[in-house]
Amino acid sequence: MWSRSNPVLIQDRWPLVPAPVEVKNLTGTFQFSSKTRINISSGDNEVRKIAELFSGQLASLTGKSLKVSTRSEKQSIRLELNKEDDICIGNEGYTLHISPQNITIEANKPAGLFYGIQTLLQFIPPVKQQGLVEIPCVDIVDYPRFKWRGLMLDVSRYFFTKDEVKRYIDQMSKYKYNVFHWHLTDDPGWRMEIKRYPRLTEIGAWRVPRIGLFYRFPPPEPDEISSYGGYYTQDDIKEVVRYASDRYITIVPEIDIPGHSKALIAAYPETSCNGAQGTVYAGETGGPGENVLCTGNEKNFEMLDHILDEVVSLFPGEYIHIGGDEVNKEFWKNCLKCQELKKKHRLKDEHELQSYFIKRVEKIIESKGKRLIGWDEIMEGGLAPNATVMSWRGTDGGIKAAKAGHKVIMTPTNFCYLDYMQGEPAIERHGGGYLRANTVYQFEPIPESIDPAYILGGQGNIWTEMISNYRKVEYMTWPRALALSEVLWSPSAKRNWNNFVPRMEAQFDRFDQDKVNYATSIYDPEISIMKDAKGNSQIVFTTEIHGLDIYYTFDFTFPDKFSMKYTDNPIRIPKGATEIWAITYRDGKPVGRLLTIHIEQIKLQE
Ligand code: ACM
Ligand code: ZN
Repeated sequence: MWSRSNPVLIQDRWPLVPAPVEVKNLTGTFQFSSKTRINISSGDNEVRKIAELFSGQLASLTGKSLKVSTRSEKQSIRLELNKEDDICIGNEGYTLHISPQNITIEANKPAGLFYGIQTLLQFIPPVKQQGLVEIPCVDIVDYPRFKWRGLMLDVSRYFFTKDEVKRYIDQMSKYKYNVFHWHLTDDPGWRMEIKRYPRLTEIGAWRVPRIGLFYRFPPPEPDEISSYGGYYTQDDIKEVVRYASDRYITIVPEIDIPGHSKALIAAYPETSCNGAQGTVYAGETGGPGENVLCTGNEKNFEMLDHILDEVVSLFPGEYIHIGGDEVNKEFWKNCLKCQELKKKHRLKDEHELQSYFIKRVEKIIESKGKRLIGWDEIMEGGLAPNATVMSWRGTDGGIKAAKAGHKVIMTPTNFCYLDYMQGEPAIERHGGGYLRANTVYQFEPIPESIDPAYILGGQGNIWTEMISNYRKVEYMTWPRALALSEVLWSPSAKRNWNNFVPRMEAQFDRFDQDKVNYATSIYDPEISIMKDAKGNSQIVFTTEIHGLDIYYTFDFTFPDKFSMKYTDNPIRIPKGATEIWAITYRDGKPVGRLLTIHIEQIKLQE
């Protein structure tokens, strides 16, 4: 673990995530004292707000807050806005100069001051009630690689409270994320109050309670009460938007249409093709059934216009996300109204029908002064003229969209789906896909031969089919979102996993202090079977980070550092062995979790 008391000892690897563009070490240290002040020039309310937030963040780290002052003080942390961008740090960049007398953060815009403060805070050992706080003198110049540094949270499959969402946003802001994509509607729940359509939350926000394997939930019983759910009132949303904006995070709301709309349809059945009354989807076997809005029903566009009016009035950001993913077009094929519309507009197939739908929604959104984003399926049948594409089924959709001159956000499943398991499946046992932190760390958002100007950035997504409580949201997010923050902020030439690992571990101390439930999967052993030249099975262990010792047993003995130690050679399976148990140690102490697995369940090495 990172030395808590004296980060000065680790000169070449400051405990900073994401890594800054340029760090120069200077001699000496800055010591905080009761006389240290946060110094701002008078009259700038936004900078004062940042300074006060900083003082609060400092207090939660060290137990002591600093006063904000507009007078020049002897020993101060100065927050200064530049008049001119003479070192090209842009709207989010900053310089941070720590000398024995003063700390100065300069930026062109308030956002840069906020990010400079987040960097400064990472130098401070996260221990309350400590005596002297002493930090190293350095000179930092820093600015982001990408404009869009996002995380998405699905609050539909399971509901997370306003306070949990704020906590999530607060954590994001410490790692310089600037977009929170709020997946507010889906088959299992509509989570936003819409005053004109109260049934959306009276009916659409509630389903039968279930826990476990989402896609195998038993369907609602005939008289079962839909007691699980919740939604955000418009006042809640205003509060969260303000909270995010104070941390320089823009919220992109997603209203997922025309598919993933079972909750809406349960509330207003006339919006679907068959008009049948259904229930909000609870994740049961067989899927959600009719969950797609009818394109041939003109009233649906009116309704969407009204809903989007309320959405737009609450979210000040530039973008509205309209989903557009995984539309089951069979419902349209079997619908007279949809087929008539298709004929009337000479649409070739249901892809073109979807394109017609999205283009109309784009017009609605643009009439309200906003821009449309959708998942990459919105390209099927022809992309709406000004749409921005979020590429999730790999990067091909994004590449195609960028080549056609559209803006793109890259969020491919194989690097960005943070709902996937992040460690040895026999330990995680979560099911679904698999994505390790060091794979996230290898993500390159700009594909070769694409003009980088079209790639706004990238985003990690937390879908919550298998995430039923907020502690697990944190577990799935961190530390992989640390890896992603570096991908999205730091220069790609600086990326180095071995250098990143201790900086990532330094954040674990902060997580501990903030009671953030980060995953420790990077310490677990990973197991697979390989075949030797004679076709015999042999066991191979790997670890995601270097320098771990792996101990194992075949005889139901809890392994410790006196057990058999794995060398780099594959292990022959002893006759009669049915299970292997293994654990990792570092520097003589256990760090990973116990792995127990039946030999026949070990996966074959790829
Ligand atoms: C998605 O994962 N359906 C965007
Ligand atoms: Zn229809």
